[in-house]
Order: sequence, then structure tokens, then C-alpha cells
Amino acid sequence: MSVHISAKKGDIAKTVLMPGDPLRAKYIADNFLTDVKLVNETRNIFFFTGLYKDKEITVGASGMGCPSIGIYSFELFTEYEVDTIIRIGTCGAYSTDLKLFDILNVEHAVSESTYAKFAWGIEKEAILNQGNAFDKINETAKELDLAVKSTNIHSSDIFYRKDEDVPAIAAKYNCLAVEMEAFALFANAKHLGKNAATILTVSDIIPTREFISADQREQALKTMMELSLETALKF
Ligand code: HPA
Repeated sequence: MSVHISAKKGDIAKTVLMPGDPLRAKYIADNFLTDVKLVNETRNIFFFTGLYKDKEITVGASGMGCPSIGIYSFELFTEYEVDTIIRIGTCGAYSTDLKLFDILNVEHAVSESTYAKFAWGIEKEAILNQGNAFDKINETAKELDLAVKSTNIHSSDIFYRKDEDVPAIAAKYNCLAVEMEAFALFANAKHLGKNAATILTVSDIIPTREFISADQREQALKTMMELSLETALKF
């Protein structure tokens, strides 16, 4: 048990897949894992541990934003001996160079957030993914014949804003898309010497206001889920 997770020590696998949404964690557990056990439901942040092709994996939600993933990933790394966290989420594309359903493997997470500075004294705006998870995702994508684009992304604290222009920091680091969590995950992993990666599916194109509909979402996200599960077999 940790401050925010009620799972027993030993109930969480060394590799954790982390969608934002607790019901997405449940969907993965129901559809891809066997011998599943619900190991945490504090605050309805579900964590399930089960087997994928005989390998023990935990799938658990991060909630939204850097503060939330900062808490869960830190407790998983420090109190449950987790080695690798792969975030699997959605993002908004800043330009029409990306299309709906494109899958991204995050190189640097770029943010105006003070999280890394005030938590760990990391004074960087751009934090690299940590360890070998990023390379394993690209290897696995190749084996599955999936097109996955490696890119920098903007981890923003803001979803709604008055100014629709691409934020300056995103332009500075050539971030093709925006989400809200990878920066804190990478900062924690960097400080603790752990593995962390982020796979994103483009769910909306900001300049054209196109977005993946509710019925398209399940199939779209399935590809990313399979990629993350197949990658997890390599740890
Ligand atoms: N902004 C931030 N996070 C997101 C978005 C967005 O437009 N789309 C999906 N996650």
C-alpha cells in the first residue's frame, strides 16, 4: 500500500501500461489479459494485473495531467518496484502533417510545467524518454509492420485556452502534437533511473477541428494497446 494506491506489495508487475482513463485500463484487462485481478480501486483509479501471453503485466490509469501521473508513477516506481511504465494515450495534432489515428512514439516531452524543476531540480523544458522502452516500441512496431512516428510532443497543463496559435514552446521544439502527462512521467523516471515511454494516438487535429468519433475510438486505440502489450513482452 502507498499513499494513493491500495494494492499490496507484489500485486503489481514490473511493467505497467498506463492509459489516462480507468475504463480504458479495464477495457485492456477485459480484452487482452487473462487471470486478471483488480489490485487497486482507490479513487476509481483502477489497476489490473494479469497475464498477456504468459507474461505478468499491470494496466493502470494515470488520471489527467502532470500532477496526477506524477503521483501514480512515483509511487509505482518507488513503492512497488516497477521498472518500466509505458503511457498509452491520445493527443491533439498541432498541424495537418499528422492524420487522425497516427501513432506516435514520444522522443522528448516538452513543457512549461514547473514539475521537473520543483520536484527534482531538473531545469529542462524538454525531457527525453528514459531507458530502452522507446527503442523497444520502435522495434516492436517494425515487427508488427505498424507505422509509428518518433517525435517531440508538448505536455501542456492547459486543455482550453483563448489563443489558438501553437504555443511558443511547442514551436521552439518542433512538437507535432499535445497531450498532458508525458513530461512528469519522464521526469520521475529520469530522477529514479527507471524506464519510461509514451505512445500516443492522434485523436484530434487542432487546426481543422477533426476528431475521432466515439465509435471509431475503440478500434483506433486497439492498435496502440497491442503495440504496448507486445512491447511489454520484451522486458
Ligand atoms: N490537448 C491536450 N491533450 C489532448 C488533446 C488536446 O487537444 N487531445 C488529446 N489529448
